[in-house]
This record gives sequence, structure tokens and C-alpha cells, in this order.
Amino acid sequence: MSLFSWVPNWLLWLLIVYISLPLALYVVFPYVFYGERSTKKRIIIYVLGDLGHSPRICYHASSFSESNFEVELCGYVDNKLPESISEDPNITVHSLGRCTKGGMIGKVLGQVFGIVKHLWALRGSDYILVQNPPSIPILPIVVVYRYLFRCKLIIDWHNLAYSILRLKYSGNNWHPLVLISIAIEFLFAHGANYHLTVTKAMKQFLSDKFWIPEKNCVVFYDRPAVQFRPFELSDGVSGKSRNEAIHSEPFIKDLIPQDFDLEKGDKIIVTSTSFTPDEDISILLGALKIYESSYKKFDSSLPRILCFITGKGPLKDHFIGEVAKNKKLWNRVHIEFVWLSSEDYPKLLRLCDFGVSLHTSSSGLDLPMKILDMFGSGIPVIALNYPVLDELVKHDVNGLKFMDRRELHEALIFATKDRKILTALKEGARRESENRWNSSWKASMKELRLIHK
Ligand SMILES: *[C@@H]1O[C@H](CO)[C@@H](O)[C@H](O)[C@H]1NC(C)=O
Ligand SMILES: *[C@@H]1O[C@H](CO)[C@@H](O)[C@H](O)[C@H]1NC(C)=O
Repeated sequence: MSLFSWVPNWLLWLLIVYISLPLALYVVFPYVFYGERSTKKRIIIYVLGDLGHSPRICYHASSFSESNFEVELCGYVDNKLPESISEDPNITVHSLGRCTKGGMIGKVLGQVFGIVKHLWALRGSDYILVQNPPSIPILPIVVVYRYLFRCKLIIDWHNLAYSILRLKYSGNNWHPLVLISIAIEFLFAHGANYHLTVTKAMKQFLSDKFWIPEKNCVVFYDRPAVQFRPFELSDGVSGKSRNEAIHSEPFIKDLIPQDFDLEKGDKIIVTSTSFTPDEDISILLGALKIYESSYKKFDSSLPRILCFITGKGPLKDHFIGEVAKNKKLWNRVHIEFVWLSSEDYPKLLRLCDFGVSLHTSSSGLDLPMKILDMFGSGIPVIALNYPVLDELVKHDVNGLKFMDRRELHEALIFATKDRKILTALKEGARRESENRWNSSWKASMKELRLIHK
């Protein structure tokens, strides 16, 4: 007779279930849902874009690593990653495969599959940070994920996905895809615990239109990368003046006209553009044309301007043609189109007197990164105005603003001729260049109580 023969069968089963329940609850379930918890806090940072071209996301990764987090950085790796990422022992990079076949639907399904696979392997993380846009398909996935696996979701709002889409459908708010995009952004935004925005205006928008509680939302401005620094503070200058540098730096010296002399008051300006219709280079060319005729007709004391236009894009050849037509007639203004490596671009910026921005924003809520890079290089900016630009460019303090080619022309005259204005603006830009990533990152994260020190 066995030991348990007096016990009814059903009771035995109940006993087994009773004993195994805690095992399931404390060992198996946690393993399935949270993976392996470590002693360090963990954060997944996910971007549906090329990591090498997502500076803000890479800085987030480095900063979290420095603040004692273990960082799982996920995204496409199309280009070489900066060393600050690839050499950091606290950051693990998970590359998402590009799905090239199968049309639009196939691509999205491929993405979904890749994301889910990553997130499953990384379950157990304390936080997950995603960049928006894009919001499809990542936003719905991470919201479901955060409820299932109990991790906290942070959305880093760079812009609004639907506003970019709307631009594609020529401003049509009622296009079905735009409507879907609005719905997804609106709904799933509420799944996040914390929000970071690139402007105050965007925070206001999220609070007014998306009903996101303000206390969970912090403004965290973009900051220039470390390689953008003022000329005086850059390496390899050692006593050289800017004028000597432009005539000796290999990447531009052949583009500088002979007898061009910064010490005599000649000025270099720079704009970077992707030559798309929403960034109208013809405003700048128009203003320079008026400048040229002002010189001929009214004021022969106007300084010479050398204007660099950097970048590539669909309308580039068109504008090169336009400029070539005027080349022989123009005397004061000289325009060069260049395409620079990522090492040479910061070098060019700090050699210039000021930058020009023709950027307009799709949502009207974000700020152009190129202005931040210019400020990082310590040069004032003459910028095409739109409402939120006030958060960055202060007229007569660190830059000048304009609405059309006439105003840009006036700004050019002020900034090239009036020494007092130029000195004041330069000082404003120099102060701006001291505003770097680290200090503002810490302040924002403390405000959200993500870090404490
Ligand atoms: C990696 O994390 C440790 C703390 O866990 C930290 O002291 C160190 O600075 C981090 N490394 C980098 C490169 O940030
Ligand atoms: C932040 O500070 C660390 C040193 O503490 C430095 O290595 C890093 O480059 C800085 N990051 C940025 C983006 O300025």
C-alpha cells in the first residue's frame, strides 16, 4: 500500500497545483515576461532610422551609459557608428535588418517582425525610449510591449509624423493616410509614461491637442555635436587667424577667390540645404542679386561676400545653372556649391562669419538642427522666420530674421557693414555655443526623475 493511497486523486492534483503555483508565479512567469533582470538599470533605445545619422539618439545612449544604465541601442546600421557608441562597453547595438523586397506592406511586416524579435530578446528592461517620428509601426508595438512587460515608455518627440505625411500629400489634412497617422499618434501617445519635446511649442501642442499631462512632459532642446565648436576653441588652430586658415585649409583653399581678405572686411556666409522645394534657395540667390546691384548703384563700400552652399538634392543642378549665368556679371558676390565630408563641414562652419537658414518646419513645432550646429560653431545665424524660431534665434542678439528676399538683403547689409551689430551677434552666438548637450540632458532627466544625481 503506497503512502498516499488514502488521499483521493483530486486532492493530490490540487496539492500539485498548489505547490507549483508559486514556482510558476515567481520563476517561470518572470522569466517569460521580464527576461533576466540585472542589478544595473536597463534602457532600450529604439529608432527606426540609421543610427549613424541619428545624433540625438546616439547622445541619449552615451548619456544613459554615463549615468549607470545598461543601454540596448536598436536601429538600422547603414553607416559606421561613431566610436563613442561602438567602443562603449555599456552600450550594446542591435542592428535591424533592412527588408528590401515585398513592397510597402512587406517592408512594414518585415520591420514589425524585426522589432518584435528584438524586444522579446530584451524583455526585462526598465525603460524604453523611442523617437517619434516615425510612429508607424513602432509606436503601437512599444505601447503594447510596455503594458505586457512592465517597462516605462519615454517618447522623444522630434516632430509630428502626420505633419510630415501631410506635406507629402500637399497639405491635405483629410487624406486617409494622414488621418490614420493622426489617430495612431494621438492614441498611442497616451501609452507613454514620459515625453521629451524639442521645443516649448511642441510641449504646448501635446498638452492642448493630444491632452498629454504637462507634468509628464519635458522640453529638451537639441544640442550641437561636439565637433561643432567655435574657431578659437578648435584643434590645430594654434595662433592661425581665420584669414590664414581659409587660404591654407586644403578642402577650401582652391575655392577662395584671389585677394579675398577677411581682415579687409570681406565676409563668408554659409547655408546648408537638401535642395528640396520646401527650402527655397532662390530667396538667398535673389537677396544676393539685390546686394550686387546695391553695390553697383548705391554703395561701393559694400564688402565682398563669399557664399558657400553645401548639400545635395533634387534641385541642385537647376540652381548651379542659375548661378553660372550670373557669374561673369557679378563682382561683389561669389557663390560656391560644395559637398563636404562630415569632418570638413564643421571646419567650414567655424571659418564663416555667419550662417543662413532657409528651413521651414512641416509642423511649425520643430527647430532646424543646422542652426544649432551653426551656433555650436559660434557663428550668428540669419534665418527665415517662422513662429517657434523665437525659442532659438533672438533677433539682434544671436541672429537676424527675415521673411523674404528684400529683408534678407537688408540683413546681409547690416551684418556685413555694421561692425557693431556683427560684434554683438558674434558675442550672442558665442554664448549660445556654450550651451551643450550634457548639462541640459541631466537637467531634463532629473525633472522626469529618471536620474537622481
Ligand atoms: C559604464 O558604466 C559605468 C558604471 O556602471 C560607468 O562608471 C562608466 O562611466 C560607463 N562607461 C561609459 C563609457 O560611459
Ligand atoms: C558629455 O560629457 C562627456 C564627459 O563627461 C564627454 O565625453 C561627452 O563627449 C559629452 N557629450 C557631449 C555630446 O557633449
